[in-house]
Amino acid sequence: MFSVLYIFLVVALLFGILLFTWSRQDRRYQSNDSVASAYDDWTNDRLLERLWGDHIHLGFYENPIFEKDFRKAKVDLVHELVAWCGFDKLPKGSRILDVGCGIGGSARILARDYGFEVLGISISPAQVKRAVELTPQNLTCDFQVMDALALELDNNSFDGVWSVEAGPHMPDKQKYADELLRVLRPGGFLAVADWNSRDTLEGSMNSLEKLIVRQLLNQWAHPAFSSINGFRANLLRSSFCQGYIETADWTAATLPSWMESIWEGFRRPEAILGLGPKALFQGLREIPTILMMRWAFARGLMKFGVFRMSSCS
Ligand SMILES: C[S@@+](CC[C@H](N)C(=O)[O-])C[C@H]1O[C@@H](n2cnc3c(N)ncnc32)[C@H](O)[C@@H]1O
Repeated sequence: MFSVLYIFLVVALLFGILLFTWSRQDRRYQSNDSVASAYDDWTNDRLLERLWGDHIHLGFYENPIFEKDFRKAKVDLVHELVAWCGFDKLPKGSRILDVGCGIGGSARILARDYGFEVLGISISPAQVKRAVELTPQNLTCDFQVMDALALELDNNSFDGVWSVEAGPHMPDKQKYADELLRVLRPGGFLAVADWNSRDTLEGSMNSLEKLIVRQLLNQWAHPAFSSINGFRANLLRSSFCQGYIETADWTAATLPSWMESIWEGFRRPEAILGLGPKALFQGLREIPTILMMRWAFARGLMKFGVFRMSSCS
């Protein structure tokens, strides 16, 4: 009896130490530099790319009950967002800005399948370098290191502005909204998809929820999440807003992505093991955050919000 209790206490203690170390050794947001260096690391070690391909965003599942290849679901999310935000109405040759472009997965689809001229910008030099390496020369895509909160781009210079899952890294959501809309020409199209926290009007967060949200922020270099209504208000409040902002909640359609992102590690073990034991540890280290994300999105604490602008003209 005592030995069972003893083993239980030792296991609980070890688990506690592991959890404590994991929560302490986070990638807490400090400045843009901390976001850039987190993405530089994630890009240079190639783990994300080998596991999940060239898209660092969730997938789209029309019917979450049916299985779908994770990488196909990610490509489908791009096409669903194109259709929902009206980008498919833009003629070939239209100029698109991809804000927080990752390693260029979406930019390449926008150029290849829709004939757009795309400029992708990221705060991470390693991502920009990798995006250039992955892009065939015949695609009209360019990539630059640039801060989304201080775009070195003219007003009204793009026909479409696209930004997927970059918002949680922005410390100033109003400035982010202002910059997205400043560079968009009158009558142009906006496509934003993001992780949002629940609106506090729907109920304040209890202590467990606050703890989870704090971990979700600190583990992946996020200063803050806004709610869908909160970011919609940022867009509407912007002096550059020339239309009506519509939103939708795509949480159900994207929810399978979280578990899929873990299963991919089991389906393609060579993707991790081929990079050596350090990569295995890094992969395992992300699992608690991914599970917490899954829990938060399934419980309505987090929501996958999409935003588009209908022109008043
Ligand atoms: C989750 S990744 C999404 C990447 C890409 N949109 C995709 O869907 O594959 C977030 C992206 O936002 C970028 N980012 C974060 N903060 C930024 C900032 N202040 N300026 C520009 N890019 C930023 C990161 O470098 C990264 O490329």
